[in-house]
Amino acid sequence: MRFLSQLKDIEAYVAGTPIRVVLERYGLEQAVKLASNESPLPPFPEVRPVIEERFQDLNRYPDSECRELRAALAARYQVGPEAVTVGNGSCELLFWVSMILLEPGVEAVLADPTFLVYEKVISGRGATPVKVPLRDFRNDLPAMAAAVNERTRIVFLTNPHNPTGAYLPAEEIQGFADGLPEDCLLVLDEAYNEYVEEDDSQEGMALARARGNVMVLRTFSKIYGLCGLRVGYGICPPPVRQAIDKVRQPFNVNTLAQAAALKALSLEDRLEERRDLNRRGRRQLYSGLERLNLEYVETQSNFMLVDVRGLAVPADAVPEELMKRGVIVRPGRSLSCPGYVRVSVGTPEENDLFLERLAGLNS
Ligand SMILES: Cc1ncc(COP(=O)(O)O)c(C=O)c1O
Repeated sequence: MRFLSQLKDIEAYVAGTPIRVVLERYGLEQAVKLASNESPLPPFPEVRPVIEERFQDLNRYPDSECRELRAALAARYQVGPEAVTVGNGSCELLFWVSMILLEPGVEAVLADPTFLVYEKVISGRGATPVKVPLRDFRNDLPAMAAAVNERTRIVFLTNPHNPTGAYLPAEEIQGFADGLPEDCLLVLDEAYNEYVEEDDSQEGMALARARGNVMVLRTFSKIYGLCGLRVGYGICPPPVRQAIDKVRQPFNVNTLAQAAALKALSLEDRLEERRDLNRRGRRQLYSGLERLNLEYVETQSNFMLVDVRGLAVPADAVPEELMKRGVIVRPGRSLSCPGYVRVSVGTPEENDLFLERLAGLNS
């Protein structure tokens, strides 16, 4: 087989270990997963009957245009449906965007470290990833701006950032977008937007409405608790959507996902309960870590980086030691943050268990 030459530089994505695997591997009765920035809560109960109702339609293909969901999202964000594209998770949209804009000889700018999928989609197209180190755990916008040149087709920016949880004020992003060439697309990935506590959190969407080169990505995977169904969306200039439609797989968003997302969106005013749970969870983790004398990175998201270098076991061994004790976190090394673990904010009980198991590694 003559595989693409660029594949030699690409590693397979290693996802957080599923709970069932950990239970079996370590003979445990109970384990909590705080490794994939998931919601600790299931979808809103009102979503269940909608899914059950659509069961009988599963012999038919889904609406390939996601008409109802796109109309609802368009109304929600005050754009036309032609500015809305829906994906099998927002991750899928990253692949489509790379397919319409990247090829050998062009570049895409991204932070280092950042969400691992960006580099994958850039390299997969044979384009060149131009990585700009973070500064104080934040995207270094001046350095990213300096990395943009006439070959740059995409800049990937995550806000809040993954894996650090750090937040960039809208004003800084606007200034950055002002300096971008018109033919360079700013992909502003706001997968964790609903957790942000800052007043300017909706300004990224205003940028997508106002500019011909900004696409905002959001998802039902996180605060809505629907990652198992895979549905995310982009608000983008209509030509971007039209181009995506030329390459995307037909029927890319399944029937149940479309129906569930539509229902979930109608319950948006209930997100405050979930934001509040996350807010309290963050505080619980902050104070627990302070008691353990461990440093952490303040977050505007539903996960955080914890510096585990001060524990009695070596930092690289911490994820495995926690896993043996029934707590699954993401090893920082796998996210280019050696010395840290990334932990998702769970329920109060899950957060306590994480803190308790961490304390156990100190003795
Ligand atoms: C920054 C970022 N973007 C996108 C995604 C993917 O989300 P989805 O489940 O919508 O594909 C994630 C998931 O962890 C993420 O961290």
